[in-house]
Amino acid sequence: MASLLLTLFSALFFAVTITESEAYSTTVKAPYPGHKPEKLTHLHFYFHDVVSAKKPTSVVVARSPTTNSSATAFGMVAVVDDILTVGPEITSEEVGRAQGIFASTDQNKFSLLMAFNLVFTKGEFSGSTASMYGRNPIMSKVREMPIIGGTGAFRFGRGYAQAKTFTFNTTSGNAVVEYNVYIWH
Ligand SMILES: *[C@@H]1O[C@H](CO)[C@@H](O)[C@H](O)[C@H]1NC(C)=O
Ligand SMILES: *[C@@H]1O[C@H](CO)[C@@H](O)[C@H](O)[C@H]1NC(C)=O
Repeated sequence: MASLLLTLFSALFFAVTITESEAYSTTVKAPYPGHKPEKLTHLHFYFHDVVSAKKPTSVVVARSPTTNSSATAFGMVAVVDDILTVGPEITSEEVGRAQGIFASTDQNKFSLLMAFNLVFTKGEFSGSTASMYGRNPIMSKVREMPIIGGTGAFRFGRGYAQAKTFTFNTTSGNAVVEYNVYIWH
């Protein structure tokens, strides 16, 4: 009995010792003393997807042999450097670029995988970027995609973007998409 108690006691003691010496998480001081989370920023801009022009800003770089016969262009991959403006006209003030890749990844519903850096070039957020990654079912009225990080003012950023097609020219294929982006940073 005494030896059983001793075994239990040492097992408990051992467990306590391990717990104290091998903590798997610690609280550290913020590495940037000037950084004051959390601020919520709302960004509103228009995204110009120009596929037909002398200098398109959205180009298809790959298709699978079956992409053309797919109703959803499944397998298509495009590289993008689209202009972001304050207003819906492309001549309106440019505030940044949407640089990234999209791919058609849904065989039943037209939907894109979006992997984008929103690169801001005007005002308070000039030089900062926000990383947007998510699913964009382009036929839906409002599409929501996560903001998964950022640089500069958007360090530690997280949030979401809502995209709404403003105009789509069925002849040229060019589109203007209204974005509302909310970022905690
Ligand atoms: C698919 O369509 C594109 C654009 O019309 C064309 O350039 C390409 O050759 C086609 N690919 C196949 C495999 O038919
Ligand atoms: C749609 O695109 C065509 C071809 O580029 C162009 O001629 C036409 O003016 C555009 N329509 C609108 C409403 O912008």
